[in-house]
Amino acid sequence: MIAWYPLSGFSFHKPRSQRECQEPNGSARFWRAALVERADEYHPTMIREAYVSIDGRRTRYLEAGAGWPVVLIHAFPLNAEMWRRQLEHAPDGWRFIAPDVRGFGKTPAPASPPDRLTIDDLARDVAALLDQLEIESAVIGGLSMGGYITLALFRLAPARFQGIILADTRSQADTPEGREGRCRMIELVRSRGASAVADQMLPKLLGATSVRRRPELQAEVRRMIEAAPVSAIAGALEAMMDRPDSTPELERIPCPVLVMAGEEDTLTPVADAESMQQRIMRSRLVVLPEAGHLANLESPEVFLRALADFLLANL
Ligand code: MLT
Repeated sequence: MIAWYPLSGFSFHKPRSQRECQEPNGSARFWRAALVERADEYHPTMIREAYVSIDGRRTRYLEAGAGWPVVLIHAFPLNAEMWRRQLEHAPDGWRFIAPDVRGFGKTPAPASPPDRLTIDDLARDVAALLDQLEIESAVIGGLSMGGYITLALFRLAPARFQGIILADTRSQADTPEGREGRCRMIELVRSRGASAVADQMLPKLLGATSVRRRPELQAEVRRMIEAAPVSAIAGALEAMMDRPDSTPELERIPCPVLVMAGEEDTLTPVADAESMQQRIMRSRLVVLPEAGHLANLESPEVFLRALADFLLANL
């Protein structure tokens, strides 16, 4: 069942009424976000850049707003900057926190990195960030690789979750073909650098609509990819290719979960999102029209609207 996401009368600044929160037919858990973007409703929030020390390593995070914490973990091979448009409009009462995964953005890789980085290492970095910020539990989520890290953290520390955001991601491990593709990309980045990775990934990261209409977004994503060090790209590829299947975890998630997917996402298609959502007890799927894999960059306001609505309605 696909329904239109109800936008009229929406405000981030007051909870929606019981009637507004109900789905039109009382049963749908699958919404297609409306394309209406009403920038006049947004109130810019200042973004702060801050650092904590995790195992002696400077870790950068961006932060905006105040109140209940929401941690947003970025995609591969980008960095926390990809959440800027959401941070700029953090809804009242919420504190958005977006860390740079180790090696990316302004978080350097450790001086003596492990032989092989694991997705659990990256999840433990998020837990350590929460410890440093004295946050016991939060709404935690991410896009694509950020979703893999979120699910790994749920497996390691379920009590830290008040809610979960899974955007353009999947719960399954890599297929054998997927692993082979990762090995080829490791060779590619080591031989030809991050720009070759950008060449290969860009056409898949953005949806057909963005590729057609948003050259400036392509340039922005390319800049982020090219800024990533070769070692960070290779390390994250190894961590992703070894990650376990998180599907069995889905049925154990007790908190509210928002699953989101760009309608034009070919890397983690809507079918993956549907299959996750169907296994999670308290979940809703929102599909973003005219967006591909990087849905929060391609449809920033619709993404934010769905996120804010989820937070206000469920937490
Ligand atoms: C991402 O956007 O994080 C990547 O596409 C994830 C992946 O390669 O599996």
